[in-house]
Amino acid sequence: MPLVDLRSDTVTRPTPEMYAAMQSAPLGDDVLGDEPTVAELEELAADMVGHEAAVFVPSGSMGNQIALAVHCRRGDSILSEEEAHILFYEAGAPAVIAQAVTRQVPSECGVMEVAEIEKRVMTRSLHTPGTAVLAVENTHNRKGGAVTPVSRMKEFRELCDRKGMRFHLDGARIFNAAVALNVNVRELTALTDSVNFCLSKGLGSPVGSVLCGPKGFIEEARFWRKRLGGGMRQSGILAACGLVSLRTMVSRLGEDHVRAQKLASAIDEIPGAKMAYACPTNIVIFDTERPASEWVAALREKHVLCSAFGVNRVRMVTHHQIDDAGIETAISAMRSLSKTLNAVSCEFD
Ligand SMILES: Cc1ncc(COP(=O)(O)O)c(C=O)c1O
Repeated sequence: MPLVDLRSDTVTRPTPEMYAAMQSAPLGDDVLGDEPTVAELEELAADMVGHEAAVFVPSGSMGNQIALAVHCRRGDSILSEEEAHILFYEAGAPAVIAQAVTRQVPSECGVMEVAEIEKRVMTRSLHTPGTAVLAVENTHNRKGGAVTPVSRMKEFRELCDRKGMRFHLDGARIFNAAVALNVNVRELTALTDSVNFCLSKGLGSPVGSVLCGPKGFIEEARFWRKRLGGGMRQSGILAACGLVSLRTMVSRLGEDHVRAQKLASAIDEIPGAKMAYACPTNIVIFDTERPASEWVAALREKHVLCSAFGVNRVRMVTHHQIDDAGIETAISAMRSLSKTLNAVSCEFD
């Protein structure tokens, strides 16, 4: 029985078009500055998100951390939502690379309130670090793929202008946000001072992210990429996949959202499980009465893979290798498990 791998949208394999593009891509040496396929990807990416320039980086984490390093002086403060990827999953990098202080902004559902941000902005003084950057995650991974709408992004821009802060967008899944809002992605991205988006998530590439911004910012970002060991040689092999992602994979993201919504609706009917957040994009997060580890292990036995996202919290993510049959398999596995796990729960409680 085939595995239904819902652990993440990062688990996908290259499509046949990607393999073909890898084979025929013209290559150079990107560290020497003559990689034509990387140059093509960077140009297309910058244009799509409405920025002047772009740099291809090995991972979303590196793109985010380079952006923070360029925007901050040592000791500056960064504001971010309390469960943002840059704080939770980038191995403490803001403290090590940008050498910045991070402050967390609470939010119910992953979309920050302007007033909550403003309360935490600090002005540089003899005593306090200045807040240099507002980093916004759209969509928000740990909060169920939450989407920050264009109107709120505009308010963030206005706040950053008023307070002299840079606006960085961790747009790992920004195309999912644009599809969910039915807007051109530029409406979300052109408002920012820098945006990083991932090719290797819903867009299906095996590796890579693109950091975009003004020319001067990107020149400095290239320097940081090299400093961090992210200079790559015949990376056109990877950029070729990225071009396929941008040209062919954006328009199909809505299918992943429909399938995630189908999972979400079924989960709300399953005893012992309850959706933790609304599910506007491709990330399904639900709370479980029994420990998440039991759900994950039992689902694995039924060929469904997912992640424990907390002691009693499970995450499932849809992507282009999950079809309707995969969703049906996951739903029926959860229904049958809920019976067994709840029976276990009666024995123990
Ligand atoms: C919101 C968000 N930002 C950044 C990243 C980092 O991407 P990478 O795994 O390529 O470092 C991820 C990865 O899951 C993410 O979900």
